[in-house]
Amino acid sequence: MADQAFVTLATNDNYAKGAMVLGKSLRSHKTSRKLVVLIGPHVTEPTKAVLNSIFDEVRLVDVLDSLDSAHLAMLKRPDLGVTFTKLHCWTLTHFAKCVFMDADTMVLSNVDDLFDREELSAAPDPGWPDCFNSGVFVFRPSKETYNKLLAFCTEHGSFDGGDQGILNGFFSNWATADITKHLPFIYNLSSIAIYSYLPAFKQYGANAKVVHFLGPTKPWSFTYDTKGKCLKGDIHDSSTHATYLLMWWEIYSVDVLPMLFKEFGDQPFHTGCVSGENGSRSSDAASHNVPAISSEERKQRWEQGQADYMGIDCFENIQKKLDSFLK
Ligand code: UDP
Ligand code: GLC
Ligand code: MN
Repeated sequence: MADQAFVTLATNDNYAKGAMVLGKSLRSHKTSRKLVVLIGPHVTEPTKAVLNSIFDEVRLVDVLDSLDSAHLAMLKRPDLGVTFTKLHCWTLTHFAKCVFMDADTMVLSNVDDLFDREELSAAPDPGWPDCFNSGVFVFRPSKETYNKLLAFCTEHGSFDGGDQGILNGFFSNWATADITKHLPFIYNLSSIAIYSYLPAFKQYGANAKVVHFLGPTKPWSFTYDTKGKCLKGDIHDSSTHATYLLMWWEIYSVDVLPMLFKEFGDQPFHTGCVSGENGSRSSDAASHNVPAISSEERKQRWEQGQADYMGIDCFENIQKKLDSFLK
């Protein structure tokens, strides 16, 4: 089993938080497999140090970007060109078999039985079930497959601008060839499926093994009140989805945040947490609630609807900025 691993990807510190929660959730459900995270060069040193203590292997890879703004615009996710970086997972040839999991997934129980499956096993995509969702899939690392995938990118491009379009084009007989390669939906329960088919969720959702926070709003887009153990602001989501979000934040605030505090030391970083009824900052978090993101990244997050309303992008700060221009 030393030659089998769960693999995830984080090109920046935000997705790295997701990777940390995923890693912790795999460990707390006692996986017997290795944990690997692929990172991009923009991941900061303290974040890398935390990843190193959760994962067996932290591997720096080049960021591959589809630069396909037309298809990404159709997908309404201009940020997903970099998901081509995921293809690097096929280069992990010191493993015989792996399971890739998006950094926005979290396991609810042990999923080591996924290794009984063959390449390429995945669950249907909730938006187009004849395509598989590339947030969770079983694969066999191989330089040959990696090169063929890169050649496929050059020749055909991706119909969605991201890795899922490539992978569905490449493993194009997934829908029809072999039913054992169809993972049950409970191994990749996309949170949007909770709204699109609520009765099915009520019937089968209790068996969910992996939750996938698919879509532009990620758990780390919210602000969490550590005292009240609740999410701040308007949560328009169903209570079930909110339950999964709270589970994510519980792992993050209890198991991950102390490690981040230790590694960041005096350097500011975005905790995402407040403490107390009125949303006032907790004293220990006070000096840490400044985001360690560039203004370009902050602009991108704004444009994707991921403003940090309770933190750096709060009304008071925007007012201050406007005032500074008017002076
Ligand atoms: N990802 C990343 N940096 C980015 C965007 C995506 O590292 O800027 C990785 C991360 O592992 C993420 C995966 O690519 O989970 C796919 O992106 P995302 O989960 O946002 O897509 P969705 O599942 O919402 O379609
Ligand atoms: C999907 C998948 C994600 C993938 C993206 C872009 O919605 O959930 O893993 O990166 O599409 O292709
Ligand atoms: Mn995802």
